[in-house]
Amino acid sequence: MKNCLWMAALGLLAMAGAALAQSEVIAERREGLKRMGAHMEAMKPVADARGDPRPLLPRIEEMIVFFRDLPDRFPPGSDRGDTRALPAVWTNRAGFEEAHARMMGQLAVLRDAAAAGDGGAFASAYAATGPQFCGGCHRPFRGR
Ligand code: HEC
Repeated sequence: MKNCLWMAALGLLAMAGAALAQSEVIAERREGLKRMGAHMEAMKPVADARGDPRPLLPRIEEMIVFFRDLPDRFPPGSDRGDTRALPAVWTNRAGFEEAHARMMGQLAVLRDAAAAGDGGAFASAYAATGPQFCGGCHRPFRGR
């Protein structure tokens, strides 16, 4: 009997520990995505003015580093808690990873345009990024 209680207590502790770990994963990915939103905001005036995009390179590089392992920030079990990620992230993993791959491709386009100092190419790549590539994942995979 005593043993059973211990086992139950340990089980509960393990469950609480797992829940805590997941809530950290969720908080961290949301924090990072907020930063990505801030990078997009900061780039907007340059795109609007077709200005020199070269100073934006460090932001784009940081986005590439963050987004590279985005799917790893959605481990199984992190669908519950303070998250707007839809179940489709886990039930349609192939679709999620496709949307992710498209994002990585677009970040390379942005980086190349910025590195070349091509304001026009950067402005049109930027204009497509939010609606097509961020939105292309948010529509099927993020709830309101
Ligand atoms: C491959 C899918 C995918 C791509 C690509 C993607 N996102 Fe998201 N994003 C999500 C998901 C899923 C959530 C919900 C995360 C959660 O609540 O746990 C989210 C949430 C966010 C949030 C809300 C963070 C918060 O909770 O406050 C912001 C801001 C955001 N994304 C910005 C962006 C920007 C900017 C881009 C494009 C540069 C982008 N995302 C591209 C899947 C994606």
